[in-house]
Amino acid sequence: MEHSLYIRAALGQKTERFPIWMMRQAGRYMREYQNIRKHYPLVEMFKTPEIVAKVTLQPITAFGMDAAILFSDILVIPDALGLGLNFIENQGPVFSRPIETMAQIDALDLNCLHERLEYVYTSIRLTQAQLKPLNIPLIGFAGGPFTVASYCVGSGKGHDLNTVLKFYFSQPHLMHRFLDVIADATILYLNRQIMAGVDAIQLFESWMSVLSRELFIELALPYLKKVIEGIQRPSHVPITLFGLANSVFYPLLMDLDIQVIGFDSKAHLPEMRKAIPYQFAIQGHLDPYFLLAPHSILKSQVSKLLDSMQGSSGYIFNLGHGVMPEVPEENVLRVVEQVKAFQNDLETSLCVL
Ligand code: CP3
Repeated sequence: MEHSLYIRAALGQKTERFPIWMMRQAGRYMREYQNIRKHYPLVEMFKTPEIVAKVTLQPITAFGMDAAILFSDILVIPDALGLGLNFIENQGPVFSRPIETMAQIDALDLNCLHERLEYVYTSIRLTQAQLKPLNIPLIGFAGGPFTVASYCVGSGKGHDLNTVLKFYFSQPHLMHRFLDVIADATILYLNRQIMAGVDAIQLFESWMSVLSRELFIELALPYLKKVIEGIQRPSHVPITLFGLANSVFYPLLMDLDIQVIGFDSKAHLPEMRKAIPYQFAIQGHLDPYFLLAPHSILKSQVSKLLDSMQGSSGYIFNLGHGVMPEVPEENVLRVVEQVKAFQNDLETSLCVL
């Protein structure tokens, strides 16, 4: 079978129209999701393959997205390593056993990782049984080691740069050792996701945005590189790297074996297209807040972005970050329909505005 639209664009090809999916496309803004969510704690949902498959499919059926992303979380790795993940209402993720000492890090056991994450691999197989006949690709994912670690060290009360950096400055070798363990776990995890049948991988290094260039080079880049080099994949399984500051740090990413760079809403996308070699596809970056705007504003913003990418090869339409719970479902549908109706001109090449 021919590769799906999303995979073709991710591999850098020029597509007759731009594929679209949205980060956090399955979630609280959908009534159907809320109907399931009110019966289960979030972690239980992630750990129940039948629910994962159902929720993953919801935005495909409701809006016709061109790719599905597995309903899971970047924090299932530290959970599987024994840190104890909980989501507290209105507070976000919290670990009951955050990392504080080297003895704790030394005790982390990668041998039981697969057994404890078996529910993810089962979920992938179950989801793919439903997606394959539709030729809709399934995106597997993991967090970048720094972003994952930033939830695990110190208080365990979620992402807080002060806590993370105080931990790092006071015990740099601990931070590096922990990042290394997370990177090793991530490699094992993503390789198993690929074996279980995901069509693509996205790495979320969201919180690179809080780092200076110095600290990005010290704490994020080497571990991203390690993970990417450790992934064993056929050449038609592309890797996307999303981060909230990719438009600043992209020159540092050029020697990574990634196929797609995901941009947030601060980027100037046509400029990025011009600056980045065509071997990389690009993804992004409608400001998710426009999904709260009146239809006319939303429509003109989507048009502006589409026009600015007219003629481009290797472009995937997405948001600059995730869909928020307040977003009206019909606005998501409108954006998908508008993007699907836009013909990418196969004759012209991108003109930079
Ligand atoms: O995009 C998708 O539809 C796939 C599923 C997905 C989730 N989390 C489900 C989820 C993905 C790709 C993630 C990644 C993730 N998780 C990131 C990186 C991407 C980003 O948003 O920057 C981060 C930092 C996390 C950690 C996390 N998970 C936080 C901070 C929170 C709480 C904030 C919030 O939105 O409530 C979560 C919970 C979470 N993960 C939800 C979902 C759908 C909320 C669901 C709910 O409460 O019902």
